[in-house]
Amino acid sequence: MCYNKYMKTLIEKITAENIEKQVHNAARLIKEGGLVAFPTETVYGLGADALNPQAARRIYQAKGRPSDNPLIVHIADPAKLTQIAERIPQRAMALGERFWPGPLTMIFPKKDCVPLATTGGLETVAVRMPDHPVALALIAASTGFIAAPSANASGRPSPTLAEHVYLDLNGRIPMILDGGPVGIGLESTIIDFSEEVPIILRPGFVTKEMAEAVIGEVRLDPGLKIGEAIAPKAPGMKYRHYAPKAELILVRGCQDKVVHTVNRLIEEAEEQGQKIGVISTDETYLCYPRGIVKNIGARKDETVIARNLYGILREFDQLDVDRIYSESFSEQGVGQAVMNRMLKAAGHRVLEV
Ligand code: TXA
Ligand code: MG
Repeated sequence: MCYNKYMKTLIEKITAENIEKQVHNAARLIKEGGLVAFPTETVYGLGADALNPQAARRIYQAKGRPSDNPLIVHIADPAKLTQIAERIPQRAMALGERFWPGPLTMIFPKKDCVPLATTGGLETVAVRMPDHPVALALIAASTGFIAAPSANASGRPSPTLAEHVYLDLNGRIPMILDGGPVGIGLESTIIDFSEEVPIILRPGFVTKEMAEAVIGEVRLDPGLKIGEAIAPKAPGMKYRHYAPKAELILVRGCQDKVVHTVNRLIEEAEEQGQKIGVISTDETYLCYPRGIVKNIGARKDETVIARNLYGILREFDQLDVDRIYSESFSEQGVGQAVMNRMLKAAGHRVLEV
C-alpha cells in the first residue's frame, strides 16, 4: 500500500445494502496495516490495527499527533478485554456491563501484546466498546482491536460528520466510512482504573454521578480544574485541543447582561472592521442583531448543545471570523463535558459579566 501525500481519500457512504461489502473492504485495509476513518456514536475515529506498531505509528503521522499521546483501543466484544488488559477490577466489569457498548473508555495495566506505539509509551491501555453498527462490524471483521483517536487533524475540533474528516485528512488516509452525523458529538468519558479509586480523566456523556450509581466513589482528575498547577493525567488533555482558528471567548453571567455585553463587543469590533461570530441559544438567538450568529440549541437540553458544538466551531473556521463570543452553559449532566471542551477551545478565556 502506498502512503504518499497524494493518496486519494475515498468517502464511502454506508447504507443497509452495502454495509457488508464496505466493511469487508475497510477491514482488509486495517488488516494490511492501513488506516480507515469510521463513525462511532461519539465522534468519528481514525482506525488502525491496535496490535501492529507500524499501523499505530501511521495514525500519529496522518493526524500530526504528538507521539506521547496514547490511543484508545476499540473492541466489539467485552470478552476481548482480558486479552489486552490486566488487573481488571470487579467495579470496572460492572461499569462495562452497564455502559458498553457506549461512550465509556476504561484504563488498565496493559498486556505485552499491546505495543507501546499504541499506548504512547505508557504501560496502561485505554479500552472502549463503541455503540455504532459500522464501528462494531469493522472491529469484528478486522483484527478485533482497533486503535482510534478522533479523526481530526491534531488540534482541530473532533469530527462529527464524515465531511469534517475529509477536510482535515484528505490525501492522508485511503478511506472514510460515512455513517452520517454522529449521535453524541463529544468524545467518550475516560475512567482510569489503574489506581485504587477510579478517576475520571476526561468528562463525557457518562457522568460522574452515572458511574457512581453503579460502582460507588469515583474522583475527578484534579488536573482538569481551571487554573490547577497539576497536569491532567490523560496526556491528550494537556494540549490546547478542540481549537477553532479564531479566538474564542466565553461570556458568563445572567442572560440579559451576557447579551448586552456581547452586543456591545460586536459593535466595537465591527467598527474596527473585524468579523465576529456568536454562539447563542434558542433563548437568545434573536437578541443579537449584528455579527454572524449561530444557535447551538435550547439551554435546557445539554445533549443537543453537545451534538452541535464541534460542527459550529468548524463552521466559524470556514467563515473566517476573527473572534467568537460564546454564551456559557450549565455544568449539569453532559454539560460538564461541554464546558470542559469549550474552556479548552477558549484557552480558558472567560469574561464574567
Ligand atoms: O469517543 C472517543 O473516545 C473517541 C472515539 C473515536 O472513540 N476517541 C477519542 O480518542 O477521543 P482521542 O485519541 O482523540 O482521545 C483519547 C484520549 C487522549 O486524551 C489520551 O491522552 C487519553 O485518551 N488516553 C488514551 N490512553 C490513555 C492512557 N493509557 N492513560 C491516560 N490517558 C490515555
Ligand atoms: Mg481527539
